[in-house]
Amino acid sequence: MKFKKNILCIGAGYVGGPSMAMIAHKCPDCRVTVVDINPARIDAWNSADLPVYEPGLDEIIKKTRGKNLFFAKDIENQIKENDIIFVSVNTPTKTFGTGAGMASDLQFLEKTARQILEHSQSPKIVIEKSTLPVKTALAMERILASAKGKITFEVISNPEFMAEGTAVADLEKPDRVLIGSRETESGLKARSELVDIYARWVPAEKIITSNIWSSELSKLVANAFLAQRVSSINSISALCEKTDADISEVTTAVGMDSRIGSKFLKAGIGFGGSCFKKDILNLVYLCSYYGLQEVADYWESVVKINAYQQDRFMANILGSMFNTLAGKKICILGFSFKADTGDTRESPAIYITRKLLAEHAQVVISDPKALKNAAIDLASDKGKISYIEDPYSAASGCHALAILTDWELYRKLDFQKIYKSMVKPAFIFDGRNIIDHKICFDIGFNVYPIGKPALIRFEDQSSV
Ligand code: NAD
Ligand code: UGA
Repeated sequence: MKFKKNILCIGAGYVGGPSMAMIAHKCPDCRVTVVDINPARIDAWNSADLPVYEPGLDEIIKKTRGKNLFFAKDIENQIKENDIIFVSVNTPTKTFGTGAGMASDLQFLEKTARQILEHSQSPKIVIEKSTLPVKTALAMERILASAKGKITFEVISNPEFMAEGTAVADLEKPDRVLIGSRETESGLKARSELVDIYARWVPAEKIITSNIWSSELSKLVANAFLAQRVSSINSISALCEKTDADISEVTTAVGMDSRIGSKFLKAGIGFGGSCFKKDILNLVYLCSYYGLQEVADYWESVVKINAYQQDRFMANILGSMFNTLAGKKICILGFSFKADTGDTRESPAIYITRKLLAEHAQVVISDPKALKNAAIDLASDKGKISYIEDPYSAASGCHALAILTDWELYRKLDFQKIYKSMVKPAFIFDGRNIIDHKICFDIGFNVYPIGKPALIRFEDQSSV
C-alpha cells in the first residue's frame, strides 16, 4: 500500500511508543515507524508484553501494529526512507562536567541529529518531541545545516504533554498540541504539515502554533508550574500537621476558587517521575546561565520542598515507631511514582526504601506493576528486600504499612484482615491520603496521614 506520509520516530520509550501509536491509530494513511538503539526495547514493542504499561495502549497497538505502525531496528535505513522524523530520545540530567546535576544531557539528541545528517538523502522535517532547554533547536539546525549538497532540514518543536498512566487519554484528547517553528516560508510550511497530522483528531482550536523558542520554553514552564502546585500544597501539609488543620479541607476550600482550580493539589510524599525534577533543574540552570539568579532560586525551591516532604515522611515513621526501625518489618504498598504505571524513575519510594534500609529495617515491597523495575532500582540492596505482589501476603508479619503510590486497589483493601496478620502495635503511614483513616484507626491501627492529625492509640500521645 502507498502511504500519504512516511513518519519516523527515533526513541521508542514512554513517549515515542504511545505517541506514535496514537498517530498511526488516527492516521491510517500514514506509515509510522519507531526505532531505537536498544534492540530489546524494539523486540518488546513487537511482542505481546509491551515495554510500557499504559491503560488502553495494548488495544491501539493491536489495531495498528503490522498495518501502519512498525517497530524497527534499522535506524539508518529508516532515516533514508522517511520524510518526517520525530526525535523522542531521553534527555536526562547531566551527571558530569559543567552543569552536572542541573543541565540537560543532550548527548543522545546530538547523536540522533548527526545520524539524521549522515543518512538523509532527501529533505526532512525534524521534530523535537523530547523536552529540551530553550534554544536547543539552534544547535540542531547548526548540525543539520552542515549537510553537503542540497538536502534541507526544517527543525520543529512539538513538545509532548501526556502524563504516564493516562497517556492514551491524554494523546487522544489533549488539552493542546503545541507546534513551534521558525517563522520563515519553509518553517511555516513544515509547521502546517505537522498541523495537518494532528488535525485528523484534535480540534483546530486546540492546535496552537508559536515561534520555536516559545514552544521549547513552554514545555519546561508547564512542568515547572505543575510541580510547583504539588510543592505548594505539600509545604502547607507540614503546617497543617502543626496546627490541627486538615489538608483535604484546606485543598477543597482553596481549589474551589475558579482562579486557582482544584487539579494538582493533592498532598503526598512528593512528586516523582523522570521529568519534573529534571525539567525544573534544567530551568534553574538556564536562569542561572542567563544571570537570573533570583528566578533560578525561586524555581529551585520547588525541588527543595519536594525533598523536604520525603524527609518529613521518613522522620515521621522513625519518630512514631519509637525511634528505632532496626529489625522491624515495613511493608511498602506501591513503588511506581504514580498509579497506573510500572515506571519507577525518580519514584519517592526509592528514596524512602533506602532510608528504611539505612535504619536496618526489613523492607517488603508490594506493587501491581512495578516490582520488576523496583528490583532493578534496588539491585545493590539485593537480599535485603522481599518483593511480594499480593498486598495481604506482603503485609503479613509486618510492623507497619507505608502507602507510597495511589493505586486504586489500596483503597479497597480489607484492612481488618491485614491488621490481624501484623505485629502489634500496628502502624499505617498513608503517604497519599487514599485510605479511610477513621476505619483503620477503629480497626486498631495507629494512622499517620499527610497534613492531617495522626490517629494514635497510645494513651500518652506526646512524641517520644
Ligand atoms: P525513555 O528513556 O523511555 O525513551 C527514550 C528512548 O530513546 C530509549 O529507549 C533510548 O534507548 C532511545 N534512544 C536514545 N538515544 C537514541 C539514539 N541515538 N537512537 C535511537 N534511540 C535512542 O524516555 P521517555 O520517557 O520516552 O522520554 C523521552 C523524552 O520525552 C524526554 O525528553 C522526556 O523529558 C520527554 N517527555 C517524557 C514524558 C513521559 O511521560 N515519560 C512526557 C513528556 C515528555
Ligand atoms: C508530568 C506532566 O503531568 C505531563 O504533562 C508531562 O508531559 C510529563 O510530566 C513529562 O513531561 O514527563 P507525569 O510525570 O507522567 O506527567 O505524571 P503526573 O501526573 O504529572 O505526576 C507527577 C508526580 O506528581 C507523581 O509522582 C504524582 O504522584 C505527583 N502528584 C501529582 C502529586 O503528588 N499530587 C498531585 O496533585 C499531582
